[in-house]
Amino acid sequence: MRTEMTTQKPELLEVDLLAVGFFEEDLTLGTSMKEMDEKLEGQLAAVLEEKSFKGKEKESSLLHTFKKIPARKLLLIGMGKKEKFDKIVLKNVVAQVCRKAKKAKCTRVGFFPFQQENDEMLMSEAIAGRFIHEGIITGLYEFNQYKKKENEEETHISHIKMIMPAVCDEKKFAEGLEVGKIMAEGICIARDLVNEPPNRMTPENLALEAEAMAKRKGLTVEVMDQEEIEKLEMGCFLGVAQGSIHKPKLVVLRYDGDGKDSENVIGLIGKGLTFDTGGISLKPAAGMEEMKTDMAGAAAVLGAMSAIADLRPSASVIGILGICENMPSHRAYRPGDVLKAMNGKTVEVLNTDAEGRLVLADCLTFAGRLGATHLVDIATLTGACVIALGNHYTGMISNDHEWQQLVLDAGKEAGEKLWPLPLDEAYKEQLKSEVADLANVGGRPAGAITAGMFLEAFVDERPWVHLDIAGTARTSKPEPHQQKGGTGAAVVTLIQAVCNFPYNESAESSAD
Ligand code: BES
Ligand code: ZN
Ligand code: ZN
Repeated sequence: MRTEMTTQKPELLEVDLLAVGFFEEDLTLGTSMKEMDEKLEGQLAAVLEEKSFKGKEKESSLLHTFKKIPARKLLLIGMGKKEKFDKIVLKNVVAQVCRKAKKAKCTRVGFFPFQQENDEMLMSEAIAGRFIHEGIITGLYEFNQYKKKENEEETHISHIKMIMPAVCDEKKFAEGLEVGKIMAEGICIARDLVNEPPNRMTPENLALEAEAMAKRKGLTVEVMDQEEIEKLEMGCFLGVAQGSIHKPKLVVLRYDGDGKDSENVIGLIGKGLTFDTGGISLKPAAGMEEMKTDMAGAAAVLGAMSAIADLRPSASVIGILGICENMPSHRAYRPGDVLKAMNGKTVEVLNTDAEGRLVLADCLTFAGRLGATHLVDIATLTGACVIALGNHYTGMISNDHEWQQLVLDAGKEAGEKLWPLPLDEAYKEQLKSEVADLANVGGRPAGAITAGMFLEAFVDERPWVHLDIAGTARTSKPEPHQQKGGTGAAVVTLIQAVCNFPYNESAESSAD
């Protein structure tokens, strides 16, 4: 699929479908659209006059052009209120245009979003290009590998021409498109991995996927098996994994930055539970199939590492995936067990369903041992986070204001919603155990926070941010830019955080 900009007049554009944007309650035509409507003998103005199409977000209307212009069909597309228009609306509108075009079996598509502006861009070229391409790719994303194809000839869009105002700097716009493509590919990697069924996306297969991606992108990768995990004395991780016939895998991916900052390394740590039954503290049957999503943290780290390899930011990054399956069996860990973490702390298991924090605990310690100085872990960690924030915001907990702010700002740039929850010593009380240093659960109150507090015991005072994507990693409500299933939540936030990581120039000069 080729995406490019053009400043050609819409009336000359040779496409199967030409989409034209309108802001709500403003159904005026810009200069070039007026010219086009002359060719259409005023039919467009007549349709708009009817006011059945109002330009609201998600609204659209499909018209035929009866060969009066080269574009075969015309799609009026609502862009919502002008004062609410931003990069996110643009992304969603573009996604909607692509889905409509596909449905109408059009392969060459044109989109004229800012037709009323008569030579004005409503945002920078870099941002417009980036979010347009993200909208195209995430909008056309589908996962239907395991379905019999109903009609053989599926439409594939071959060309997308964006009609941009003459003032649009083509080079900057093209650069934006490229960034958007890389971001969207990262999102799609995460979505694919999450959408795969858990009998296929086993720990060994997820590790193989990580290895394949790393080789493709020129990242260093190491896959450690159970024996090596035993040597590292990751007792918490091993405890969770021991109930499954599938052995755990610990994956380390490395991206080497430009070396200007020799002191700092970012560690991205992902929870990779390929399936979470709850273990001996078994989950209820209803909806359990959704627990194939419990590796979405690891998937997000993989998607992000892939994009990082393409974008080549300055900072160095280590990606760590803790991969296993939480199963009940004759050899499963049980409530009452005491596990010894890699950092020497002991943990009493009070609920085998609070397994993610056990896996992450050892992975966080390991990240520190490997030299990571700034940590971000990402996990579908708690149902409590879903209760607190629902499906729109990713929960966030941190021990370092500056690092938290950097990730929050990255989220804004990425167009993803994050909400910080408090980290406070007062909650520690809830994690006290009668027999060990810590208990793995802290009761029902503030469940998302106590899970975060648990993790904090393993970060060794490094700046750390925890992202709980339990509510955001999958969706059951389809939107133009995301169908049902894995969303790729927080992938772009991770990438952006790495790209925004500041140079530590003093580290460079002191290293000389
Ligand atoms: N993977 C789940 C959390 C989860 C819940 C993710 C809903 C996505 C949607 C996690 O391992 C878990 O089961 N957590 C328990 C912890 C509890 C036992 C303290 C939970 O949230 O119920
Ligand atoms: Zn669980
Ligand atoms: Zn889990």
